[in-house]
Amino acid sequence: MSKLLIVNASQLVTLAGPARPRIGAELRDLGIVTDGAMLVSDSRIVAVGTLAEIEPQAKDAEVIDAGRCLVTPGFVDAHTHLVFAGNRADEFEKRCAGMTYQEIASQGGGIRSTVRKTRAASEDQLLQAATRHAQWFLQGGTTTIEAKSGYGLTVEDEFKILRVIGRIGETTPLRTVPTFLGAHEIPEEYAGRADDYVSLVAEEMMPRVAHQKLAEFCDIFCEAKVFNLGQSRRVLTAAKSHGLGLRMHADQFTSFGASDLAAELGAKTCDHLEQTQPASLAALKAAEVQPVLLPGSVYAIGSHKYPAARDMIGAGLAVVLATDFNPGSSPTTSMRMVMSLACTQMKVTPAEALTAATINAAYSLNRGDEIGSLEAGKAADFVIHDAEDYRELPYFFGDHRAASVFARGKQYMTR
Ligand code: NIG
Ligand code: FE
Repeated sequence: MSKLLIVNASQLVTLAGPARPRIGAELRDLGIVTDGAMLVSDSRIVAVGTLAEIEPQAKDAEVIDAGRCLVTPGFVDAHTHLVFAGNRADEFEKRCAGMTYQEIASQGGGIRSTVRKTRAASEDQLLQAATRHAQWFLQGGTTTIEAKSGYGLTVEDEFKILRVIGRIGETTPLRTVPTFLGAHEIPEEYAGRADDYVSLVAEEMMPRVAHQKLAEFCDIFCEAKVFNLGQSRRVLTAAKSHGLGLRMHADQFTSFGASDLAAELGAKTCDHLEQTQPASLAALKAAEVQPVLLPGSVYAIGSHKYPAARDMIGAGLAVVLATDFNPGSSPTTSMRMVMSLACTQMKVTPAEALTAATINAAYSLNRGDEIGSLEAGKAADFVIHDAEDYRELPYFFGDHRAASVFARGKQYMTR
């Protein structure tokens, strides 16, 4: 048995607390142990506390000196589009020249342009691209991601992407939680026949995804000119009947009741919420839907309308922060950048941001008992940061690389 004793952490941010997502003032309680130590055996945390408490149990452990640096749980990124071919730097240039994200999409660019490239790529080519993205996540201290399909939009191409998501979880230290997003866009060949595509997703793809256990969750892009409320209801109801959890891209550009539908159907999360009406927050609270806020996508499309995070926290919602990593609206893997945007643009405190990026995100993926905090019995996914104090994580922005990253008790990298 290999044992590790982590010593000399300036702050050991445990996020220890109740076995449920954190709300209200709980979001600010990080469970910090100053001069903390942690004992790891194989891939699990055995004990967390002060060195005096831990040392007697740590005979023959290899000592890892954190060097008076900050130690946190690995970030949990609960909304990513990990697998795609190519990139959209060309569209970025157009947006810089004044075109909007929606204008580009309505001219055949946007998601559809990534779909063309992703369909043309082989499974191994996609695995190679996704492995590169996985390394970026890990280098930044992210040890778990939710990953969506959605750039295939045919049975074969969606399955190809879902298989790659599974293979990333097997071939890299990054944990992946797969989400089926067959309803990400209406494919070109179904233009004017969106309902037929919805039938394909709900009746053909969904049962096969569930039967092959290729996804744990189902998501849909519920938005004007993409999928309306009726179509979203069909897809999500089918997903639920096949035992998949529900997530939803809702209220990103327009508000027409998507988050209310998420509440009605008992979705696990409702993501984006830039345009959500204040009256919808009570419904989300009543249904215990977790809002997943994606400020990177607001920043990168050059919008200024960030979600009302303070109102959501005030309404008692268990807020989550995620990157929305994708080649269009949010080309970043940096949870630190997302935390920084949450603090500066949405007036979230650094402590709230860290809770939203770890333990709350873990609960939104049904993994709150396994990851997201540093507590005895949980997985040894943790990060030593080049920082002394947790507030430095969002404060120093732009460089997101961690000092050392440990996934399942194994050191992935040291800077
Ligand atoms: O979450 N809104 C839809 N999907 C992604 C964007 C995907 C893309 O532009 O390729 C999002 O912003
Ligand atoms: Fe997204």
